[in-house]
Amino acid sequence: MPRVYIRTFGCQMNVYDTGKMRALLGERGYEPTDDMAQADLIIVNTCSVREKPEHKVHSFLGDAFRVKRSRGALVAVTGCVAQQEGTHLLDRYPQLDLVMGPDAVPRIAELVDEARRRPLAETRFLDGDRYVFADAIDPDAEHGVGGFVTIQKGCDNKCTFCIVPATRGPELSRPSAEVVAEVRALVERGVKEVTLLGQNVNSYGLKTPGERTFAQLLRAVAEVPGLVRLRYTTSHPRDMGPDVVAAHRDLPVLARHLHLPVQSGSDAVLRRMKRFYTRDDYLRLVDALREAVPDIALTTDFIVGFPGETDADFEATMDLLDRVGFHGSFSFKFSARPGTPALKLLDRGEAVPPEVAQARLERLQARQRELSLAAHQAMVGREVEVLVEGPSRHDEGVVAGRTSDFKMVNFPGSLDLVGRLVRVRVTRAFTNSARGERVEA
Ligand code: SAM
Ligand code: SF4
Ligand code: F3S
Repeated sequence: MPRVYIRTFGCQMNVYDTGKMRALLGERGYEPTDDMAQADLIIVNTCSVREKPEHKVHSFLGDAFRVKRSRGALVAVTGCVAQQEGTHLLDRYPQLDLVMGPDAVPRIAELVDEARRRPLAETRFLDGDRYVFADAIDPDAEHGVGGFVTIQKGCDNKCTFCIVPATRGPELSRPSAEVVAEVRALVERGVKEVTLLGQNVNSYGLKTPGERTFAQLLRAVAEVPGLVRLRYTTSHPRDMGPDVVAAHRDLPVLARHLHLPVQSGSDAVLRRMKRFYTRDDYLRLVDALREAVPDIALTTDFIVGFPGETDADFEATMDLLDRVGFHGSFSFKFSARPGTPALKLLDRGEAVPPEVAQARLERLQARQRELSLAAHQAMVGREVEVLVEGPSRHDEGVVAGRTSDFKMVNFPGSLDLVGRLVRVRVTRAFTNSARGERVEA
């Protein structure tokens, strides 16, 4: 049996696409392997959202080509760098066999066959009539407590810093019947928690006459028997309407957590990012969510050092961080991406000096660590319900899982608890997790 090794960088979309590739190649007789040296097909599924992850692909390829030389493996680059670079990658790496963008994932098996005959780059975007979401289920899904389901591909927004619209193409919603069927198929395989994926889930269905809205989709998925928890990402604050807020209030299966990327707390920066909401809009949305679900935990993304960001702009971001009291955040220094509108701001000399951006990032992250610790400290002494995901990464005889509000909790227990909801009393708090003891039923 031929063996396939897939290395995945980037976001959950790529993790999901990797699962689809594993499934579709499995139908062609490929067996997954964790050892690249044993592989007959090596795939690197890439990310280009910032410069750093983009660089990873180039160092990875050096290792892949060594395996190619020793056992004739076929080497493929998929994902966002593949889409962005296309045939340039084939020019730069004569040993490369296949370059293929995210839209080609459903056709991976035939493209691999074709690439055996000649090097190939496939980076066309397919529109609604020609694109078919793959329905094959990742064979690894059976081993996981959580699973992803894509509800939409691409993005129609034009946030000025972002390369994703260029790498993932126009937004297209997946038919809701397919989404519900895939959730059901995962749950039948033992998955307990499903995360719905899209770049802008709140605009789900709006371009397709007769399709469910995102709020209606949440209600339909919530009815799948056996589903323990439902999450979704990513939500654009501009498009999150009262119907989605109401779904959070009404659906017990929907996690008491929302990742709601704000990017900046300054209206001037938000305007130049073309995010189309103000900090007050964002704060009003937070109030509405908290009215619907008082203990909802919020996490976010921040970019610091966006071109033209002043000290006052950054202070507005720090102020927003405190005002909302995010339980966690991902924060990044602005990274100039090829072809994005923000490059024009750099041309006008508005770049923030790297040492200033670095200092801002460190300040923001230090404050976030305090807020995250405080959020975990507030759990101490309380009983929480943990969906056990697997063994703790640090301690023998300890298992780890998450609460509905996305807190990682470790507690002594055996692996037969994996996949079960367990009541735990929290005894200690850390920045990124809590520790506890099982409360016997
Ligand atoms: N669609 C999601 C949204 O609208 O929030 C985000 C998708 S993006 C893959 C994930 C995060 O990467 C963004 O929220 C942003 O904070 C960050 N990001 C995107 N482009 C970036 C850039 N050029 N430099 C730094 N961070 C960036
Ligand atoms: Fe990028 Fe904005 Fe689309 Fe998110 S909504 S993927 S940040 S363009
Ligand atoms: Fe990266 Fe593409 Fe996701 S750029 S973050 S893998 S959509």
